[in-house]
Amino acid sequence: MNSDQPDPIRHIPNGTILIIFGASGDLTRRKLMPALYHLARDLLLPEMFHVIGLGRKIQEGVEFIDHMKMRVIQYCSHKMEPQYWDPLASSMSSLRADYTDPDTFSNLAKVIEKKEDEWGRNANKLFYFATNPSHFETLISSIASVDLNKQDHDAWSRVIVEKPFGLDILTADKLNNVIMEHFDEEQIYRIDHYLGKEAVQNILVFRMSNLLFQPLWNREFIDHVQITISETVGAEGRVEFFEQTGVIRDMLQSHLLQILAFLTMDHPKSLDPELIRDEKVILLKSIRRLSGSEVDDYTMRGQYGQGVVNSEFVPAYLDEQGVAQDSRVETYSAVKLFIDNYRWRGVPFYLRTGKRLSHRKTEIFIQLKQLNVNQIPTSLSNQPPIPNTIRLEIQPIAGIDVTLGWKPAGLLTDVEPTSLNIGGIAQIKEPKAYERLLLDAMRGDSTLFVRYDEIREMWQIVDPIRKRWDEINSSSNEDQQPIPIYPSGTQGPKQADDFIGKEGRSWTKI
Ligand code: BG6
Repeated sequence: MNSDQPDPIRHIPNGTILIIFGASGDLTRRKLMPALYHLARDLLLPEMFHVIGLGRKIQEGVEFIDHMKMRVIQYCSHKMEPQYWDPLASSMSSLRADYTDPDTFSNLAKVIEKKEDEWGRNANKLFYFATNPSHFETLISSIASVDLNKQDHDAWSRVIVEKPFGLDILTADKLNNVIMEHFDEEQIYRIDHYLGKEAVQNILVFRMSNLLFQPLWNREFIDHVQITISETVGAEGRVEFFEQTGVIRDMLQSHLLQILAFLTMDHPKSLDPELIRDEKVILLKSIRRLSGSEVDDYTMRGQYGQGVVNSEFVPAYLDEQGVAQDSRVETYSAVKLFIDNYRWRGVPFYLRTGKRLSHRKTEIFIQLKQLNVNQIPTSLSNQPPIPNTIRLEIQPIAGIDVTLGWKPAGLLTDVEPTSLNIGGIAQIKEPKAYERLLLDAMRGDSTLFVRYDEIREMWQIVDPIRKRWDEINSSSNEDQQPIPIYPSGTQGPKQADDFIGKEGRSWTKI
């Protein structure tokens, strides 16, 4: 496509085909297509490059390409420019697919062969599983049945598996076994796109490269931590997926726990990806497992009702098309976790996430302990000392905000909180997460992907919570507490405030 490759180190090899299963779905529309367009704009796609989109309801030919163009216009932060779009569009094709039908895969093999004949070489193949996770096992064995998992010295075959990887530890193990039957570990890319976000990668650098903060990173100085992922989007268009996962499997099992691990893991000897993953696994193993009714004290959940988000009226979750009328699937959840190791023992970590809240925001809020009166001059001790806080903002704008006590000009020695803010960092030329991860997978760099032992540990944390909630959901009506409903466009259920408030703390504003 672009013979003028600016940076050979970041080069995607010539003769690469990206095969997207689930190309008519939400992920392809919102994230993958805009990411491909960004790669085209950055002149990172090679001359011989092709995308095959497969889907159950996919349009064919020009209709598919026009549809994708509309999505790029809708979701991409750059404007649509024909000089970048046209070559990408001419390298796209689609195939209507029934994933249970062997013909789908023999047809796919034929399309790939045709491309290979045209190019006069074997093609590198990157399979992207953007479908409902219930198809993943079938996809793996069907790809293998037509030998598309095979690679040789001049062409590789890789697979990107979207999250959630399984629905619990048992199904995750089963899925992993099926994949490992047909692919080697170095061919498997388990994705959590939060690892592709610049500001998530920056968490490690921030805490490990600043003497100002490094010594504070433990139970001696930190009172508590809040990690928030709040979204304005609802489950619209993804109900089938969401009814199986709720936010606990969709967001806690992956994004929230990954952020927590980056924030709290011990320092690896170097930034070698395997060593970072080793430390993450050690940390995840130290997170206290909840059991039985203990879950009730450490977690809460809610579901969105109707309301107004971004000035638009939106329906309640129960009124979304395809949602069961008695669905108790959570669209909001807050959990309190403890890390039972020497560094963090006793520090509560509050993690919350919700759909259809007032704003889109991901941030980490760290409150340091309060100085006690013996640590400050008596003349200041008539005022309660203000605890310092550190806020690591991940999105929509990456930044850092630290609050310090400060005497404002005047005759009195009042102390007021003042804010030290580095806003908007990483905004300049930030590669979007999917752009970065697609590029890495095609270049064979698995640094920002997740290892299976991390996934297992994360399920061990989530499974008891899910189990307890399922028990409550299936118990007789009299035992069932109603699931708290929050109006869309708000800060979440009032019960979430009580959840943190019973410990004398309050959530940061979303
Ligand atoms: C996905 C979840 O992994 O992350 C979605 O499946 C969620 O439910 C999305 O909306 C949020 O990603 P981002 O990058 O928009 O914060």
